[in-house]
Amino acid sequence: MSEKVTLSYDGKSVELPVIVGSEGERGIDIARLRDQTGLITYDDGYRNTGSCTSDITFIDGEKGILRYRGYPIEELAEKSTFVEVAWLLIYGNLPDRQELKAFSDMFTEFQVLHEDMKHHFEGFPPNAHPMAILSSMINASGCFTRELTAPNDPTKFRRHSARLISQVRTIAAFAYRKSRGLPSVYPKPEYKYTENFLHMMFSMPYDDIALEPEAVAALDQIFLLHADHEQNCSTSTVRMVASSRANIFASAAAGVCALWGPLHGGANQAVLDMLTQIRSEGDDGSKFLEHVKSKEGGKRLMGFGHAVYRNYDPRAKIIKASCDKLLARLKKSDPLLDIALKLEETALKDSYFLERKLYPNVDFYSGIIMRALGIPTEMFTVMFAIGRMPGWIANFKEVMDDPKSRIYRPRQVYTGPTIRNYVPLEKRSAH
Ligand code: ACO
Repeated sequence: MSEKVTLSYDGKSVELPVIVGSEGERGIDIARLRDQTGLITYDDGYRNTGSCTSDITFIDGEKGILRYRGYPIEELAEKSTFVEVAWLLIYGNLPDRQELKAFSDMFTEFQVLHEDMKHHFEGFPPNAHPMAILSSMINASGCFTRELTAPNDPTKFRRHSARLISQVRTIAAFAYRKSRGLPSVYPKPEYKYTENFLHMMFSMPYDDIALEPEAVAALDQIFLLHADHEQNCSTSTVRMVASSRANIFASAAAGVCALWGPLHGGANQAVLDMLTQIRSEGDDGSKFLEHVKSKEGGKRLMGFGHAVYRNYDPRAKIIKASCDKLLARLKKSDPLLDIALKLEETALKDSYFLERKLYPNVDFYSGIIMRALGIPTEMFTVMFAIGRMPGWIANFKEVMDDPKSRIYRPRQVYTGPTIRNYVPLEKRSAH
């Protein structure tokens, strides 16, 4: 028998159905609450609101569990690749050989930008943030997609989504080259996804860089670990935009904008800035932590805490292990890593962080890996966006494929002035 919740209000009782998810989470379906009682629910920032049902990603924040389509993130990080995971997220199952080949072939087909698109890069000032360039160029890429005749044509979805995943890395690499005044480097069909990205970032038109397999694997894993994270700020934004039936390029560009903020994807850059500042002040992290705990100046320990995890972010564990492995393989040491380790060790023993259940999140160590790969700090959030693209696309598809999907439209509790009459300018007193 299906579960119900009874709500009493104003002398009346209403029964509300309970939706049960496949992992046992329960949500009260309040869709008809206003019709029945005149009430809406209030949940500032949607922290306790399920905005949709979704088959894509499962998170248990208390236990520190993350699974894509049922597969534990630890297994995928060890055995799979970013491209395979992209397919898994979008289409629901691990691809067979043929599907994987067709998917990879489409990335090769779309990897070069339309030549006219290159002129758009010229319009940005040299110090433009690459996230601004990325969101603008993803949207522009839609204009160069001749097949994009209707806002959404489901028959073209496969090609559009592959184009986006492929071109986001070309755009990202071109944005970086532009910011450094370097010539653009075109992708090579013989390279795989992540190899090609590193090639476009660091080769010269006359000299290809030697790609270290360990470096390629580390970055591929970073993309994979970022590939989806259920209804976070940027993914909800993508779903919101998609719900108006905006096209996939516009929806993904909106996701990039939402990701940019330092409380979300921008945190990886903020972590590196924080570590660099701590080092420049000759601190080992102890003084900084005292500042954070005193809350003076509103400083936070960036890379710690998470809106959902009240435990170690499982991605942080994987990234930390990869970071140790990569630095050892590349025979590199990084003083910022020493500071990060000290901060983590101290914070995890400190009652301030323990009581608030603040643990390292995915961004705490990913920056150290990217630094070791030579990726500049201002590109860190762009790396996150490349990784997150399949998750945004999978969520976009879920919205489009749902025959009951309607435009997203939250309500509000209005707290502004009640009705008042217009006052002509000459009769208004100065405020
Ligand atoms: N450092 C110090 N104190 C913190 C931190 C932090 N990183 N995060 C939360 N707190 C404190 C808050 O000050 C608050 O303290 P109080 O109870 O005394 O008022 C308490 O912990 C709860 O904080 P909230 O802001 O309510 O937590 P919320 O869940 O809203 O925030 C967030 C989550 C934004 C991630 C936060 O932990 C934060 O700012 N972390 C640093 C930024 C960061 O690393 N972001 C990346 C998140 S992962 C991602 O987006 C991929």
